[in-house]
Amino acid sequence: CGIVGYAGPQSALDVVIAGLKRLEYRGYDSAGVAVLAGGDLLAAKRAGKLVNLDKALAEAPLPAGPVGIGHTRWATHGAPNDTNAHPHLDSAGRVAVVHNGIIENFAALRAELAGRGHVLASQTDTEVVSHLLAEAFEECGGLAEAMRRVCRRLDGAFTLVAVHADVPGVVVGARRDSPLVVGVGEGETFLASDVAAFIAHTRDAIELGQDQVVEARRDGVTVTGFDGSPAEVRSYHVDWDASAAEKGGYASFMLKEIAEQPKAVADTLLGRVDGEGTLSLDEVRIPAAVLREVEKVVVVACGTAFHAGLIAKYAIEHWTRVPCEVELASEFRYRDPILDARTLVIAISQSGETMDTLMALRHAREQGAKVLAICNTNGSTIPRESDAVLYTHAGPEVAVASTKAFLTQLVACNLVALYLGQVRGTKWGDEIRAVVRELSHVPEQVGRVLETMEPVRELARSLSDKPTVLFLGRHVGYPVALEGALKLKELAYMHAEGFAAGELKHGPIALIEQDLPVVVVVPSPRGRSVLHGKIVSNIQEIRARGARTVVIAEEGDESVVPYADHLIRVPATPTLLQPLVATVPLQVFACELATARGNDVDQPRNLAKSVTVE
Ligand code: G6P
Repeated sequence: CGIVGYAGPQSALDVVIAGLKRLEYRGYDSAGVAVLAGGDLLAAKRAGKLVNLDKALAEAPLPAGPVGIGHTRWATHGAPNDTNAHPHLDSAGRVAVVHNGIIENFAALRAELAGRGHVLASQTDTEVVSHLLAEAFEECGGLAEAMRRVCRRLDGAFTLVAVHADVPGVVVGARRDSPLVVGVGEGETFLASDVAAFIAHTRDAIELGQDQVVEARRDGVTVTGFDGSPAEVRSYHVDWDASAAEKGGYASFMLKEIAEQPKAVADTLLGRVDGEGTLSLDEVRIPAAVLREVEKVVVVACGTAFHAGLIAKYAIEHWTRVPCEVELASEFRYRDPILDARTLVIAISQSGETMDTLMALRHAREQGAKVLAICNTNGSTIPRESDAVLYTHAGPEVAVASTKAFLTQLVACNLVALYLGQVRGTKWGDEIRAVVRELSHVPEQVGRVLETMEPVRELARSLSDKPTVLFLGRHVGYPVALEGALKLKELAYMHAEGFAAGELKHGPIALIEQDLPVVVVVPSPRGRSVLHGKIVSNIQEIRARGARTVVIAEEGDESVVPYADHLIRVPATPTLLQPLVATVPLQVFACELATARGNDVDQPRNLAKSVTVE
């Protein structure tokens, strides 16, 4: 969910609505706002995307007011209808609360409130908080203190932001295991799930810690722990501006973000590699002595970031000879994984807020493992709770399905693998330098791929009525196939599956029928020629059974030409870097195919970009 709060001289309603528009990628099942104006609390909310709320406000306007809160929802408790939309008010209509997360003991609290005569209107866990907050305010007379009292009674994960009609200049926020940042402007203050909500007003932000409550007024903030003790906070400056989070002439954020990939990759390499093949990763603050002792690497991540992790395994094991496991973050801690001080856990997350990944890294640290985060969002929770972080510099990614962040994660994974190899002094010194030099060519190579995408778009449009598309790959091409399939599911709502090409004969080949599109990622014929030969055989096997083959192969690889119904060329790269170029056509393919099917590629149904529940 996306949350905004504002206190300042501007129209709170306008600031909050504009902020919600920038956070809509976090959830778009329903939206709502509440403003304080002239001693009154006024609220409006609607099911569906933000445009529905906009329409409702056009018909029945709310006053501007100096203080307001807003919410755009990704439903957990209760259907996404008008009643369950946030904000939630207490019975007297004096308190309004917006919430992200899940309050696990809400049933008990609800029963307790009912026992005291409260009548709750919705099925949400959030409404419980507005009633409890109203009661606590009655007792103590302060909104921040009331919030602290309520938070101490809540189990689960939550960000809460609230206003009370009796304290007209104040917005109060609280967080536990769920994101909330503060924006500090000139005579105005913002609270939001992420900085995108206020970046048009200020680039100065404060990161809140775990179990903290913030009281925001136009002249500043006061931050305390849930127990009332004063809290130390970290201020930071956001290194991108509002234009980076706008479409800039593209039809969708997705198209813009795909096009930004050469720059995103270049920015992620900047200052870390040079033309001589030297690698400097000073920000990986885990001492070299500790990294030399590492006996096992475990990568945890979700969704697209998990696919980056699968690719990281090949690079890490190749360059370090240290065993590397990759696991879905949501599965990790529940199987009681074997971890100790000699385990390096790498947590990959674009948002830095994914709850599954956060819980996995906490579990790892509790067992004594060191955690290195690969993350795209400064000020987010995952880097703050890790031992070190390597930031990707993709800039803000708004489209729900990840593209440019994925490519920069691949760069970061390769950098980490090469760095570990360098630190541990494996025999690969010269090879490592050669690959580091090759990395500097990737931005230009990705740019070249993007320039040749018209036939891919045409192909996507021609396949838009197919029920299924399969993707095959070997070695690092296998995770690329998984990512190609995921993109198609997310964007086109189509049945798509990725397989290891060698596994085909053990089952999935039964799916092949006349004219079924199968995309095959072919490795370089130079690097691992054995693999190359095997996959060329796989292409022949499926074609013999009627598949329509879409072959992604390196420039100059003529051996695939006779078996490709459609051929997509990518520049020659070292094997481990091929995903950086081979993924791009698959992104373009999914985006175009989904568009041809009439789908919203930026906000696919049922999804949210940052999933802060487990
Ligand atoms: C959500 C998004 C995916 C994303 C995943 C992990 O499910 O819809 O696109 O890959 O979260 O997100 P993260 O921010 O941790 O990389």
